[in-house]
Amino acid sequence: MNRIRNIVILTGAGISAESGIDTFRDGGGLWEKHRVEDVATPEAFARDPNLVLRFYDMRREAIQQKEPNAAHVALAELDARWPGDLLIVTQNVDDLHERAGARRVLHMHGEHLNAWCTACDARSRWTGPLIDRPECPRCGGRALRPDIVWFGEMPYRMGEIYGALRGADLFVSIGTSGAVYPAAGFVRDARELGARTLELNLERSQGSGWFHETRLGPAGEIVPAWVEELLGGAGDPPPL
Ligand code: APR
Repeated sequence: MNRIRNIVILTGAGISAESGIDTFRDGGGLWEKHRVEDVATPEAFARDPNLVLRFYDMRREAIQQKEPNAAHVALAELDARWPGDLLIVTQNVDDLHERAGARRVLHMHGEHLNAWCTACDARSRWTGPLIDRPECPRCGGRALRPDIVWFGEMPYRMGEIYGALRGADLFVSIGTSGAVYPAAGFVRDARELGARTLELNLERSQGSGWFHETRLGPAGEIVPAWVEELLGGAGDPPPL
């Protein structure tokens, strides 16, 4: 990996697995325990809002009990020390990247700790429940929903993501199954745009064939090792 200046990192549920947050598609994962169509679609919310709000209230409460792991910490260190452009595009709706100290983070699938008012479009920091239909801090209405991108909805900030991919020398995917588009397609686009591509995952994913290189193992081990390699061990990162 020589002459790397700009990096885009895509993260998925696998990076938070060692923090005790369920992934979606592994054995015992969230989508084995719940039908996607019952809790993670706009149709489900229209049909049974209480069920959906209760589900996300539980998830919102649970993530606040979790802590960042060594993979989040390593990416935060990379973010702090990397002199080139760097963007962590996360599909995760937890806040563990930020709590580890990362700054250059974009949540393409929304955030558990936000509520979105469908009346006035404001997004408010939200740590409590939504089931009791609290007021929107901006407009006073009672139309708050989880700020989560559900199946069938458009992921956030795609223009920014593609802007970063166009400038990337290196695209790294961490802890994602490559099952959900558009994120699953970033590797192909990054390659076509000229980036080197690296996958760090527990096991081979649906998209593994698209990467120049795949390294297998738990994120808490292989991400810190990769970051250390990239930063050149102790001291300053290699000159660009
Ligand atoms: N370290 C690294 N990778 C891991 C670990 C670990 N400790 N544990 C699990 N993984 C890997 C799994 O092998 C799997 O390939 O993480 C991946 C998790 O895949 P998914 O559960 O499908 O999660 P993700 O790819 O983030 O899902 C994408 O789907 O349901 C939607 O919106 C939701 O953002 C989510 C999107």
